[in-house]
Amino acid sequence: MTEAKRILVTAALPYANGPIHLGHLAGAYLPSDIYVRYQRLKGREIVFICGSDEHGVPITLTADKEKITPQAVVDRYHEMNKKAFEQFGMSFDSYSRTSLPLHHQTALEFFLDFHRRGILREKQEKQFFDPKANMFLPDRYVEGTCPICGNTEARGDQCERCGSYLNPTDLINPKSKISGEVPVLRETSHLYFPLGEFQSRLEAYMQERSARDGWKENVLKYCQSWFNDGLQDRAVTRDLDWGVKIPLSGYESKVLYVWFDAVLGYISSTKEWAQRNGNPDAWKKFWLDDGTKYLAFIGKDNVVFHCIVFPAMLMAWNDAHAAERYVLPENVPANEFLNFEGQKFSKSRGIGIDVQDFLARFPADPLRYYLASSLPEYRDSDFYWKDFQAKNNNELADILGNFVNRTLAFAGRTFSGATPGRGALSPRDAAMIEGMKAVPGAAGLCFEQYRFRDGLLEIMNLARSANKYFNDSEPWKTAKSDPTQCGTTINISLQIARTLAILMSPIIPASAERIWKMLNLDGSVTAQSWDKAAELGIPDGRHLGTVEILFTKIDDDVIDKAIKDTTNAPTVPQTPPKPVDVKPEITIDDFKKLDLRVAKIVQCENVPKSEKLLKLQVEVGNEKRQIVAGIAKHYKPEELVGKSVVVVYNLAPAKLMGQESKGMVLAASDDEGKLFVVTPSGELPSGSVVR
Ligand code: MF3
Ligand code: ZN
Repeated sequence: MTEAKRILVTAALPYANGPIHLGHLAGAYLPSDIYVRYQRLKGREIVFICGSDEHGVPITLTADKEKITPQAVVDRYHEMNKKAFEQFGMSFDSYSRTSLPLHHQTALEFFLDFHRRGILREKQEKQFFDPKANMFLPDRYVEGTCPICGNTEARGDQCERCGSYLNPTDLINPKSKISGEVPVLRETSHLYFPLGEFQSRLEAYMQERSARDGWKENVLKYCQSWFNDGLQDRAVTRDLDWGVKIPLSGYESKVLYVWFDAVLGYISSTKEWAQRNGNPDAWKKFWLDDGTKYLAFIGKDNVVFHCIVFPAMLMAWNDAHAAERYVLPENVPANEFLNFEGQKFSKSRGIGIDVQDFLARFPADPLRYYLASSLPEYRDSDFYWKDFQAKNNNELADILGNFVNRTLAFAGRTFSGATPGRGALSPRDAAMIEGMKAVPGAAGLCFEQYRFRDGLLEIMNLARSANKYFNDSEPWKTAKSDPTQCGTTINISLQIARTLAILMSPIIPASAERIWKMLNLDGSVTAQSWDKAAELGIPDGRHLGTVEILFTKIDDDVIDKAIKDTTNAPTVPQTPPKPVDVKPEITIDDFKKLDLRVAKIVQCENVPKSEKLLKLQVEVGNEKRQIVAGIAKHYKPEELVGKSVVVVYNLAPAKLMGQESKGMVLAASDDEGKLFVVTPSGELPSGSVVR
């Protein structure tokens, strides 16, 4: 981990095209908020930046569907998400939006600079245009028949069935996914950013930073696979009318590619913050000063844009602006995904819950606590309602809440609500104080390394040992037998409650503040010092505040109702199952044209530069041949070796990603699109005819 003069923290700008859900919170937002709140207590100069990502095709589609303007769509979700974040306790310094003129200016400053300097390359191409929708179609909005395997639902960028990468123009019978019309080809030109030219610098950058600040394994792996494939030029303009308009002749009807402007939204959001605080240049000391440690918190689906695209853009800028060099991310702590009750969040299937709906049922802190304790830091994790209930009842209420409440209640009863002084320390008292002194450092180290679950565990272990200390000290007995010892126990317990309030405040800020008030301490818990959190900060005789229950237990029926409402609730409109596409009847003679055989897979490897394809060497009787199959996302090569499968033996040979393929492996997919190869139900020699 690296020490820095100041810290800049950004959290991915969520699309203003729908409400944020718990998965988003667990990905980028809660971790960044814990980190920032912790660093503020460390006294570091820090700014915390976020905002709405308000461009992109899906927003225009929502607008069309609802017959309103894209601006109305983003206005609605910007407000909604901003409010949900506030309610959840996110402590952004700035929550801006990319539809603001300030953002458009900032994005264009970069774009036009690159254009002026000849960095961007223009390429002419023919692209599908939907005459009815009056728009050029992004690749995945064109559907048609795959020229390779005949799948009638192939998308313009790829065929899910055989795994081939496609261009929309490869499709047979192309159709617009937006209007269903047949699209027409139109000439258009776009500007491309030469990402490939930055590859070696990006690799060096990543190596240097990850050696310094410990990048996550998953992030490095992901980038490595991009590097292995070789970085390609990327178009940074689009034929759309919603977005950052391009003031170049010939580009009047084009806008910036949403990702090009979105990442720059971090900079414009910081500028907005600076202006709002009456110091318009204040953004510069964060973005343009080498002493800044910049951390970009995201979910794993955003890795390439933050580790490759954005740094390359900043490098391109910095190359020509020696006096205005931007800092690059020191680390990109990306989380994996949070699933919901064992399933993917899916609005259309009624699985999952939006943040605002959740917070209408339960307060924010139990959610923050639960999510923090099960963040998908290294692998996907799950939200389970029963787990949420258990963590709230058995940990927040029974451990933390119970300790604070029993301590304060005892002090109220026995010492008339004033902090008793400490007498001579028993070995148990001394050990408790010692133990407490180690916690800020230990938990802080976890937080510095983006290990929030571990950090929380350290702090909760303090609450656990505090309960044990209270029990073992038996103040209800010493109250009569040894009042001085009783006073010592209660004094130390109150000190621990104060320490816990500070240390827990990044995780459960509202409850920490309540503990602070109950202890009747001055100021706000957010104004305290992390490093001094374990000092015995409550003076003798200090009058305590009113005791309140900190955490309410959640009953079974409340949780059962929540489960019912959020996992496929009957009230939520369900998308009807996709009709299986029924093909015209064939005769037995048609069927007989197929030569289906059992083949044994003897060797299997990934196809370089392809995420989807596997190259199989199969044995069919005594013949060996190579088949390329689009199943790399569903099987590891070693899982297939030795398996018998059914292949179309007489399929015309084809080349996929430069690889010869003779035949096709049969596979079936489940509802989620996961593929399973078809295997004979018994032992059969390879070459056996299937009929
Ligand atoms: N809107 C994107 C998403 O929700 C994230 C954008 S992050 C930014 O996945 F860097 F582009 F702002
Ligand atoms: Zn196909």
